[in-house]
Amino acid sequence: YCIAHSFLLSLCSYSSGLFVCAAAIRCSCDPARSVQCYRATEIPREIPFTTRRLYISHSKIKQLQFTDFRRMSVLEELVLSCSGTESIENNTFKALSTLKSLELCKNQLKQIPTFLPSGLEILRLADNSINALHASDFAGLMKLRVLDLRNNLIATLPPSAFSSLYNLQSLILDGNNLESVSAPLRLPRLKYLSMADNKLNSFPTNFFASFQSLHFLSLSGNFLTKLPLDLPKSLLSLKLEKNQLKMVRLRDVKHLENLSEFLLSENQLISIDGAQVLPNLTTLELSKNQLHTVPLRLPSRLQKLDCSNNLIQRVTAQDFQGLQDLKHLFLDNNSVSTFEAGALQQCAQLSNLALEQNLLSSIPLRLPDTLARLDLKGNDIEDVGEQELKDLKQLQVLNLRNNKISLLDRKVLEYLPRLRHLYLDGNPWNCTCDLLRTRRALVAKGTDVRGGQCAAPAQSRGESWMSSKKILQQCKDNLSSTERGKEDRKKMKPNEASSAGVNTDDDYYDYELD
Ligand SMILES: *[C@@H]1O[C@H](CO)[C@@H](O)[C@H](O)[C@H]1NC(C)=O
Ligand SMILES: *[C@@H]1O[C@H](CO)[C@@H](O)[C@H](O)[C@H]1NC(C)=O
Ligand SMILES: *[C@@H]1O[C@H](CO)[C@@H](O)[C@H](O)[C@H]1NC(C)=O
Ligand SMILES: *[C@@H]1O[C@H](CO)[C@@H](O)[C@H](O)[C@H]1NC(C)=O
Ligand SMILES: *[C@@H]1O[C@H](CO)[C@@H](O)[C@H](O)[C@H]1NC(C)=O
Ligand SMILES: *[C@@H]1O[C@H](CO)[C@@H](O)[C@H](O)[C@H]1NC(C)=O
Repeated sequence: YCIAHSFLLSLCSYSSGLFVCAAAIRCSCDPARSVQCYRATEIPREIPFTTRRLYISHSKIKQLQFTDFRRMSVLEELVLSCSGTESIENNTFKALSTLKSLELCKNQLKQIPTFLPSGLEILRLADNSINALHASDFAGLMKLRVLDLRNNLIATLPPSAFSSLYNLQSLILDGNNLESVSAPLRLPRLKYLSMADNKLNSFPTNFFASFQSLHFLSLSGNFLTKLPLDLPKSLLSLKLEKNQLKMVRLRDVKHLENLSEFLLSENQLISIDGAQVLPNLTTLELSKNQLHTVPLRLPSRLQKLDCSNNLIQRVTAQDFQGLQDLKHLFLDNNSVSTFEAGALQQCAQLSNLALEQNLLSSIPLRLPDTLARLDLKGNDIEDVGEQELKDLKQLQVLNLRNNKISLLDRKVLEYLPRLRHLYLDGNPWNCTCDLLRTRRALVAKGTDVRGGQCAAPAQSRGESWMSSKKILQQCKDNLSSTERGKEDRKKMKPNEASSAGVNTDDDYYDYELD
């Protein structure tokens, strides 16, 4: 099939005594009858007519012509991206009766290509300059399943443009200029609708009612002040982040009986109460709002609750009653100063608790023993006692960076058999010989530790207490010879040797846990 396995075309010419070659066009083909080309300035004539898949990118092809693909009678997939294409002659694709997938992303098209072949199932035109849709644009595309128009300049959605798209399952309109939508679109098979990052501020009643099969809806990054009322019952995921919602009345969405994911971060919500009306909700994200309390009456199947970056001051047992499936709880960057002992005892599956950037003066008591990761960075904790940590047999990551801890008893660590990462830097360590014993215990355990620097005594100030030889020297007479033993012959990890810089690599919650 492939005459030459790959072919190379140099466009060379002799001018002013110099032999000048334009960048070579490279194409390669494989036995699966796909051809890939880049750096082309036109559709290469050498492409075999029996090609099934053609991929062209990083080229300069201003215009596509009727003659370009005319003889590729078995072409199924055509991708032409990043090629500066501005216009496409009428009927360029019309005769490609086998074409199923057409992608013309990252070009400079100003309109939808005309006369598209009726067998098309996937059409991707993302990142162009298309500024309007016309009634005839998708005429006859009865088989189209995926239409991706993200990052164009479309301002309105004329319903007539979509009237052929009976089988459309996925419609992506993110990053356009939509300010409003008028009449409903009749797309009965649509499962996925994304209109994020537009300028939408409301929807006409019944706009969503016609999407009887919709599972996923994103309206993030718009100017919505109200939740649309007629959302389809079939929804599983609803994204409304980055809008201007001040209030969400959950009884307005209680018909969403299968909703599993509800994302409301970056709005202006002051409170939200009674999410229990959504029985299948597993993820609720409310980060960056203005909540003063943890939402009341949460649904019992909840697995992830994100209330980070709010104004919450208290965490009580009542807030978390019956949340036996909760695995991830984010309360970081609030003003939590009160954390009731045992507040999370009913969350018997909690593995990830984020409490960094709060006002806690101690580690909360009776945390669930299922915790694998506990982040308490940036609080006002002074003491780390046995009492708080002794049950955390599963704990793998403990972050106590940037607190006010000066002492750490090595016994505390004996209770944490699975600890792998311990962040202790940014604390005013008092580098006594006792702390050196703790250091020895940590090294023996093989825990990865960011220790940070000594604040006291004066002669040790600035020393990295996990690696300093100087403080070891000072304690020479205080440690027994076995205590002085192995640890300091072991090689320190390079990051520990220079732990002065602030590390930020613990800021993600999906640590590799086992
Ligand atoms: C392309 O087709 C449209 C109608 O579908 C027509 O208005 C236009 O004149 C045609 N362009 C050319 C260059 O033939
Ligand atoms: C909810 O999910 C169930 C199980 O997948 C399904 O049978 C039911 O039709 C769904 N309800 C709605 C309103 O889509
Ligand atoms: C939603 O919850 C109801 C009742 O709790 C259940 O019958 C249904 O199957 C659930 N739907 C899904 C998709 O899990
Ligand atoms: C903490 O939350 C406030 C808003 O509640 C926000 O302005 C600030 O940037 C957040 N800080 C961090 C470190 O995320
Ligand atoms: C450090 O610990 C020693 C011994 O316990 C104590 O005497 C000293 O006051 C402590 N220094 C600071 C700054 O807390
Ligand atoms: C070593 O121990 C002695 C007494 O046990 C104590 O006075 C001294 O301060 C200790 N040295 C250090 C550096 O902690």
